[in-house]
Amino acid sequence: MNAPISTVREGDVLVVTSNNPPVNALGAAVRQGLDAALTEAAGDDGIKAVVIICEGQTFFAGADITEFGKPFVEPSLPVLVDRIEASEKPVIAAVHGTALGGGCEVALACHYRMAVPSAKFGLPEVKLGLLPGAGGTQRLPRVAGVEVALEMATKGDPIPAAKAKDVGLVDRLASEGALRDEAIAYAREVAGARPLPRTSTRDVTVDSATFDTFRKANAKRFRGMDAPAEIIDVIEATAGKPYTEGVQRERMSFMKLMMGAQSAALRHIFFAERKAAKIDGVPDGTEARAIKKVGVIGAGTMGGGISMNFLSAGIPVTIVEMQQDALDRGTGVMRKNYEATAAKGRMTAEQVEKAMGLLNPSLSMDDLADCDLIIEAVYENMDVKKEIFGKLDRIAKPGAILASNTSYLNIDEIAASTGRPQDVLGLHFFSPANVMKLLEVVRGAKTAPDVLVTAMTVAKKIRKVAVVAGVCHGFIGNRMLMPRQVEATNLLLEGATPEQIDRVHVGFGMPMGPFQMADLAGVDIGWHRDPTRIENIRDALAAEERWGQKKGAGFYDYDDKRQPSNSPRVAAIIEDFRQKTGTPQHDVTDEEIVERTLYTMVNEGAKILEEGMAQRASDIDVVWVYGYGWPPYRGGPMFWADGEGLKKIVAGLEKHGFEVSALLREKAEKGEKFN
Ligand code: 3HC
Repeated sequence: MNAPISTVREGDVLVVTSNNPPVNALGAAVRQGLDAALTEAAGDDGIKAVVIICEGQTFFAGADITEFGKPFVEPSLPVLVDRIEASEKPVIAAVHGTALGGGCEVALACHYRMAVPSAKFGLPEVKLGLLPGAGGTQRLPRVAGVEVALEMATKGDPIPAAKAKDVGLVDRLASEGALRDEAIAYAREVAGARPLPRTSTRDVTVDSATFDTFRKANAKRFRGMDAPAEIIDVIEATAGKPYTEGVQRERMSFMKLMMGAQSAALRHIFFAERKAAKIDGVPDGTEARAIKKVGVIGAGTMGGGISMNFLSAGIPVTIVEMQQDALDRGTGVMRKNYEATAAKGRMTAEQVEKAMGLLNPSLSMDDLADCDLIIEAVYENMDVKKEIFGKLDRIAKPGAILASNTSYLNIDEIAASTGRPQDVLGLHFFSPANVMKLLEVVRGAKTAPDVLVTAMTVAKKIRKVAVVAGVCHGFIGNRMLMPRQVEATNLLLEGATPEQIDRVHVGFGMPMGPFQMADLAGVDIGWHRDPTRIENIRDALAAEERWGQKKGAGFYDYDDKRQPSNSPRVAAIIEDFRQKTGTPQHDVTDEEIVERTLYTMVNEGAKILEEGMAQRASDIDVVWVYGYGWPPYRGGPMFWADGEGLKKIVAGLEKHGFEVSALLREKAEKGEKFN
């Protein structure tokens, strides 16, 4: 393998180039190469300045995450960045792509930073449960101020080059395509400048109120997470102290987080997300079909949300409804959603018009004839779906991909209503479809490999995290939700309250518990609509129009600000069912709630794996983190189960009389893990 770092002299400037695809991660060979280049520059009187630049898609996108937890190789990144800053000759960072984590820290250690306008700077370590560990917590507050440093390091979102320039992180912008030349010219310009601007020697202005204000403002967002709190503590404890003292504290905290369970879980999710894109059983080199135009059937909440994904990615969409008023309502909602995003400053008015301009509303399915991908998003009814797919079979051009957004129904049965089952698959979006990251790609028995590859490619284009699922009731996510719902309701009958169960789930790190979720989604979803037929607690609530937040009453009562409170009426309904069913009561402990609502999910996940409905355990974790708000710092249900110990999970399931998955039992007996 070629060395990733090469040097070339351009007159009196040494250009140090990294070529370490795909993202120029700062692995051992890169660090060693950079170190050697600094030695070369120091030892050559003919060199007056150094430019560090990267080839390929990006500047260094961070430390090499695959090295974490492995034996340490010199030089470390913290030592290397200090060496860059200590150089007696000016070092210029020439940035394109994403200067992330360690990459941003390398740039911060350079004396001058130049970037093309499309470049981005970020400290995403927090998303891996870590903190910037190569001087980032020390140099960024010195360069851009404490507020910017807190924001970037605790939230992990990158900022564009123009903003980076505004906050002082970039000294000069370069023209796209001319970075190397302009960085060399910049290097010549500053070659004789002395003293060199060394970031670590700058002062930090500290206002002690800043930290508490920031903590308070973000308390909800950072709930349950170790890294953001540690980052704030480190910056607070070290701002105003000498750099050498600050980096020591930074290192200690970095190591503490690195050894912690949360970082292990978040690193698992990082790799799981990327692994999910790889499909078993698809021949190498399978090419994706071109998707230049998309059709969506149904302009309801789902159809509208699905369409917005494509419009935002610049792909034209033809959206079809049966009635003009429904079509107008649907497209009106889409426009309103875009305008709301623009009002928050996350889109310009031109971008809104551009996206809406790509939308072609229609009342005729015949208008889908030129679409490369058609997604059906009508209500869940097999007969209706079969009829639509039968029609599509006659209308769609040869090679068009026909997808259903069903959340439960059998894709093979839908595919059989066409003469081209190889072109049919499920694309299960999650509501709100323009926001939620997850996409379940449901592989039918006859779905062609290139159709699957196309689905994964398109998913990436519309910025979804796609996971392949097999055909089974509810696929991966909703199938695992079912035992949770059943047990949550059983627990109510046996003596628990909705708020107790929700509290346990929220305490675990879920955004909301099962009953809060029911109230948000609508208690009447899937209800048979007969108020006289009351077979369970949910029927009773629905019959009284306690449909959740939208009605001001559901499992909770809501005030006019949608603040929930415990409902005496719900307590009475539950009591009534306890009497009617003669269910014996007991004190339900929090532990029992975990065992019956979370262990059962793991058990279902194991059955899904056993049946080959998910390709790998980590895919299940991705589904739950991106589709249902499972706390990422717990790594998804299967990763979490590994940490709990599979023997303990089996024992918990057996205690309550559940049928244990054979795979789960086997793994527990062998002392194995899912991941
Ligand atoms: N280390 C090792 N491998 C990495 C990596 C990293 N920092 N970043 C990405 N990769 C790998 C991915 O695993 C993937 O591998 P695969 O092809 O085998 O699946 C490949 O690079 C391509 O990655 P993506 O599919 O994510 O490519 P995209 O083009 O979609 O995105 C990116 C590029 C924005 C750079 C994205 O990969 C990313 O966000 N990477 C992580 C950045 C990060 O977290 N950096 C901080 C690291 S921690 C650190 O720096 C600690 C320091 O403070 C001491």
